This record gives sequence, structure tokens and C-alpha cells, in this order.
Amino acid sequence: MLITKKIFLEKHIFEGLKEIADTCPTEVIYQVYPASFMDSNNDGVGDLRGITSRLDYIEKLGVDAVWISPFFLSPPGHDGDGGYAVSNYREIDPRFGIMTDFDELLTHAHARGLKIYTDFVLPHTSSHHEWFQKSQRREAGFEDFYIWHNGKTDGSVVGEGGKQRPGLPNNWLSIFGGPAWEWHEGRRQYYLHHFLTAQPALNLREKAVQDASLAEMKFWLDKGVDGFRIDALPHIGCDVEFRDDRLLKPDHPPAEPRWTDLFAEYSFCPDFIHDLVRRIRELMRSYEKPRFTLGEVLSGREGGSNSLPIAASFIGEDQLDYCYTNELVSLTSFPSPHHIVEMVSRINKFFPSWGGNCNTASNHDVARSATRLTEGVEEHFKSSAIRQLLQLFMCLPGSFTLYQGEELGLSQAQIPDDIPYEKRKDVIVTPLGPPDGRDGSRTPMPWLCGAKNAGFSSAEELYLPVPSSHYNLAVDAQENDSHSFLHFTRHLLAWRKAQPALIVGHILAQVVDDDLLILLRYHRDQILLGLFNMGPRERTFSPGEHFDQSLMDQIGQLPSDQNPVKLTAFEVKFFGDMCC
Ligand code: NOJ
Repeated sequence: MLITKKIFLEKHIFEGLKEIADTCPTEVIYQVYPASFMDSNNDGVGDLRGITSRLDYIEKLGVDAVWISPFFLSPPGHDGDGGYAVSNYREIDPRFGIMTDFDELLTHAHARGLKIYTDFVLPHTSSHHEWFQKSQRREAGFEDFYIWHNGKTDGSVVGEGGKQRPGLPNNWLSIFGGPAWEWHEGRRQYYLHHFLTAQPALNLREKAVQDASLAEMKFWLDKGVDGFRIDALPHIGCDVEFRDDRLLKPDHPPAEPRWTDLFAEYSFCPDFIHDLVRRIRELMRSYEKPRFTLGEVLSGREGGSNSLPIAASFIGEDQLDYCYTNELVSLTSFPSPHHIVEMVSRINKFFPSWGGNCNTASNHDVARSATRLTEGVEEHFKSSAIRQLLQLFMCLPGSFTLYQGEELGLSQAQIPDDIPYEKRKDVIVTPLGPPDGRDGSRTPMPWLCGAKNAGFSSAEELYLPVPSSHYNLAVDAQENDSHSFLHFTRHLLAWRKAQPALIVGHILAQVVDDDLLILLRYHRDQILLGLFNMGPRERTFSPGEHFDQSLMDQIGQLPSDQNPVKLTAFEVKFFGDMCC
């Protein structure tokens, strides 16, 4: 259906833009997953020195900052959750190197003007952490460091070894499946875990626990890190009264409910987190050099969906700088123009003026975007389709994260074709992740197409194998091809930086029909128009049918209606852009 309403841009929308320009950070942040980025000592696992050796590559991408997923001491195997179960925040996991390797990495990154954000896993520690060891023994000062509960006394269940124990404290569920409570025979109490049983939830409502966590953050800030990506922000702590969460569909209770079946009212996002975040902000502000925070907010209250309002509540002068949400990572196929327009209206609603929205389409938790988002697109259009989405996402307001390999257009590694079952490292099934675990997006970066293990490592046994289809997409092969995905991404990033409207402008999105999308970003110095053909048919577009004459005059460069714009399958055309 053709929408005939014309788009008018009126003078008043240019008012009040200064505040946005001054306060809205819009960085591009490159995410590195250390185990699979680059192996410097050929033991098969990527490491910190490997990252340092590839800083030239990262700098050349044109990103502003690098977020490095956890490289701290963590148990090997399942209980370590790929580094997200930290057993010592100040120690480097020997698999990744030693502290001087990190110091060198930081120095070399700073010399190139790149910021370094480390991951901070705030909601929980590993059960191997000294704090938990002391807490389970009820050592003075640590007794209440975690969330312990006696359990229900109005009925008991039989525990392992035939020992009686009280019933579960309530109906809360872990994001990774099963109850959120684990029985501890030593304390004869349950402890809360929002994720793995090996990730006990810290009792961050307590000032002493906050102080201890802030001290760990301070350790890294004193070293000079530029900030943190904060893990699973709304999954910190819980309701003080431990009330049951309601089922989303109480009339149709599932046989085995998962976290996404709950209206997470009490197990999730208690108010005190804002006070804790305020303390984090104060700590950041105590340094002369600006420090930044990127929060992970992937869940909302309704079955884990709709995380934007929660994310927005964590943005502000006394809160965080950015949050990434489930808006893009929850997409499981190529989106329609209607979907994009609804998403833009949500972003506009919840992030009206302050920035803070971080657009993340790919990361170590979800299937790679080149595969996930081209679901439903014919094979020969997939390459154009995924390029278009990168352009589209970079046109959204806010900052952007680029996950290692996304700039190469890497596909999701398949299990068992690329990764045999017995070689898998992660078998955790998360609400947004693939059903067979998250390894498919964690395989090694391909650097050299003709080398053993694509140049990632010369070891016989790797952390995870390199998928055979990734060799041809290796960095050196793409460097030599000016039409490659790598060149496309670099060009796109440089181009984005040169467009004031993309950095600080407002956004307006409109559906033309089921395939055509209009995006306008506007700022006092520029009106940028993007026309997106999101379908496989060739299309034409006559600006005069959709735009008010004064808008057309302001955009400039627009062809006349006698000469309509032609768009091939999945093509994008921009008008009113600045050269870079
Ligand atoms: C979010 C991290 O990105 C994910 O990898 C991890 O498993 C959970 N938080 C738990 O820490």
C-alpha cells in the first residue's frame, strides 16, 4: 500500500538541537572476544598480546574504542561461562597472558587514540571467588555477601543423599534454565543465581558489597582503562521480600516454564541498582580523564522482551553513558520497513534527547548477523542484504558496536559441520542465543586465507576450529579486494563520521510500502536522506510524491520526478550526504 502522506520538515524541529550535540556520545565500539581474536603464543587460545599485535588493524577500521570481553581469572570449562564467571577481578587468566601484557595493550591502544573498555561482571562472581568461599563458610564480614535464603518451611523436598531440605524460596527462574536457587548443604541454605549455578548473585544491596565491587573497578580505572562494559545490568540483586514472579500467561502455564515465561517483577531490576550506578558514575567522575560506561540491558520485564525502557532508565548524567538493548540482537530474520519504523519510534520515545542508545546487532551471545539477519533472503542477495543492514544500523541514533568478524561479513559457524559436538566449549542455551550454544559466533578470526588455521594460531588444537568457509573471507584476502566487506565497512565508518546528521541529528523513518523505507536524519547543518530498498525487486522512487518541496530543496542532490531514483534489490541510496 502506498502511503501518500508527505513528509514535512518544519522550522521548530531545529530548535533545541544544541543540547544533543553537546551531550550525546556516538562512538563506534569494536568488541573483541579474547579467546578467538589472535593467538600470540600458539597454544591455540587467543590472548592479550595477540590483541596488541592487531591494534593496527583495529585502528584502520576507524572505530573509537575497543571493548574486550573478560580475560580475568575464571574456571576453565562450563562453569567459567566463557570468562563471565570471574574468580578474581584483579588477576589475568593465564590463558590470556600476564598483567604486563595488559599494560602494553593499554599503552599501545592509547598511542593510537583507541579507548579500551574492559568487561565488568557486576551481578555475580564465580563460585570459586574468595568472597563466595568465605560467604559459604559464614566468615565474618562475608556472611551476607551473596543472596542466601532459608527456603520455604511449609513443605520440604528430599535433597541429594536423602537429606531433607526446605522447599525453594520462590518461583524465580534462571535465565539459563531451571530454578534460580541452588541448595548449599554447608550453610543449609539456598543461594540465588540468575545465570549458572556456578555464578552466585552478589548481594549488591549491601553497602559493603558495593564498596568491594567498586574497589575492583577502581583497580582497573587506576590502571588507565577508559571505562567498562557492565554485564547484565538489570540482573543485579532482587526484591527484598522475595515475592513470586507472575507467569505471563497464568491461564496456560507451560509444563516447564523458562525465564521468558515470567513477568519478571521481583527477581529482576530492583530500584536500588540506580543508586549503585550513581556510585559508579561518581567513581568515574573522580578521574580527570573522562571514563565511559556501556551497560548490557537485554531483558525487559515481560518475558525478557522490550528492554528499551529499562535501558533508558539507566542513561543520564548520574547514570551510564550508553546501554545496548535487545532491539537488534533479538531480530531473527531480515527486518521489514514496518519493523524498522516501529523500532525508530521506540528509540525516539525512550531516548528522546540524550543519546545513550547503543546499536548492537552481533556479539558473542547471539548468532552472527550475516547469517541470522539474512534468514529468508535468497542466497544471491544475502551479501547486498547484510551490507544494507550495516548501513541501516549505522544510521540509527546513538553509538554502535561492531563485533569482531562482523566487518568481514563472517557467517555463523554451524554445529556439527564446522564445530563437531565434542569440540564445543559452550552449551548454554540463552533466551536470545542459538539452541545449540554460543560457540558458532566465537570461532577464531581468520587473518590469512592461505595459512594454517587462517593465521590465527599455528597450534594443532584450537580453542574452536576455524570454519572452512571463513578462509576465503580472511583479512588478507579482503584487503586485496576493493569491493570486499572489509573495505565496505571501513568506508562506511569513515563516511558515518563525516555526517553531522548521523552523529547528532534527529531521526524520522517512514514506510513507503512493504519493501521501501525512507530514513531522514537531520541536524541544523545537514538533512540526510536514506532510501532503502529492503526487497529483492528493482524499485523506483519519485521524491515529489513523498516530500514537501521545501524539504526537497533543503536536501539538495535529489533527482527530479521526471528522473526517479532507481534502486536495485537491497540497494541503498543516500542524498544530502557530505563527502569524506
Ligand atoms: C551476559 C554475557 O554477555 C554472557 O556471555 C554471559 O553468559 C551472561 N551475561 C552472564 O554473565
